[in-house]
Amino acid sequence: MTTKPSVLITRRWPEAVESRLAECYDVTLNEQDIPLTPEQFRKALATYDAILPTVTDNLGPDALNVPKAKTRILGNYGVGFSHINAEAAKTLGLTVTNTPDVLSDCTADIAMTLLLMCARRAGEGEREIRAGEWTGWRPTHLIGNKVSNKTLGIIGFGRIGQEMARRAHHGFGMKILVQNRSKIATNILAKYDAEQVESIEDLLPQSDFVSLHCPGGAANRHLINAARLNLMKPNGILINTARGEVVDERALAQALSFDTIGGAGLDVFDGEPRINPDLMQCDNLVMLPHLGSATQETREAMGFRVLDNLDDFFAGRPPRDQVI
Ligand code: DGY
Repeated sequence: MTTKPSVLITRRWPEAVESRLAECYDVTLNEQDIPLTPEQFRKALATYDAILPTVTDNLGPDALNVPKAKTRILGNYGVGFSHINAEAAKTLGLTVTNTPDVLSDCTADIAMTLLLMCARRAGEGEREIRAGEWTGWRPTHLIGNKVSNKTLGIIGFGRIGQEMARRAHHGFGMKILVQNRSKIATNILAKYDAEQVESIEDLLPQSDFVSLHCPGGAANRHLINAARLNLMKPNGILINTARGEVVDERALAQALSFDTIGGAGLDVFDGEPRINPDLMQCDNLVMLPHLGSATQETREAMGFRVLDNLDDFFAGRPPRDQVI
C-alpha cells in the first residue's frame, strides 16, 4: 500500500473540496482558520509534502527562509500569487500553481457591482437609509452618473479584464479602451469592439471609468499614483479588484477628499484587512471586503482546480496551472 502525500490546507475551504481532498491525501486542516505565522509556515515546510496557501499567507523570504524543505508544491488557492516570493520559492525547488479561469466571471461581476454602486451612489444611499436619514424622494437627491454608453478604461486585459469588457460592452453599451503590457490580438479586441492604447497616460484622460485587472506585486506597486490620478476626468471613477498595492491609497484618499476624481470602488486593500483610516473618511468610496471570487460555485471550483494540480503533480505530470 502506498502512503498518501501529506497536505496542509492553510485556511478552511468549502466542505465539498475538503472532503474530496481528504479521500486522496493525508490532509491537515487549519481548524482555527487563522493565518499561519512565518514560524508556523517554516515548520510546515519541514512537515508536509504539499501546502495549499492563499492570499492571506504572506510568503515572503521570512516564511520561506529554511535551508531545505520537505514540501515540493505550493498549490495556491487563488489566481494572484504575488504574496509568494518567487525567488525564495525557486531556491527551495518548490513548484507553485494557481487557479485561473474559474474565478474570472465572479471577479468581473464584483468589479461591475462596484462600478454601478459608485456611479449610482448606492453605497451612500444605503448608508443614508441605515442611518435613518432618508427624508424621501426628491428630484435632486443623490444624483449620480449614467453608466450606459460611457467609456471604460481597462488596465490589464487578461481573463478577468476581458470578462469585465464583455459585461460593460455587451450589457451596458460601453466603449472599451484597453492598456496592457503586451499587444492584444485583434480578434480578442474585436469581441468587445475594444481599442488598445499605448499607455496608462493615454487611457486615463479618455475614460469615465477605470478598472484595474493587472497583477499585484512589486512591479505594479502604486501603478496608480497621485500623478496618474490627476490625469483622470474630474468625475472619473476608479475600480480596483486586482490587488491593494496597485493603488497608492494615500493619493487616492486625497483625490477623493478634494473631489479631483468622482469616486472609487475597492475590493482589495494594501495590507488588508487593515484599512487606511484616510479612506474611511471618503463618502464617494465604496469598499468591499475582498469578495471577488466569493460565490459557492467559484470557491468550490477554485478548490477543485487546486486538487487537479495536486493530482497532476503527484502523478508525475506537469500541473496545468504551474506558475513557478
Ligand atoms: C485571487 O484569486 O487572486 C483572489 O484575489 C484571492 O486570492
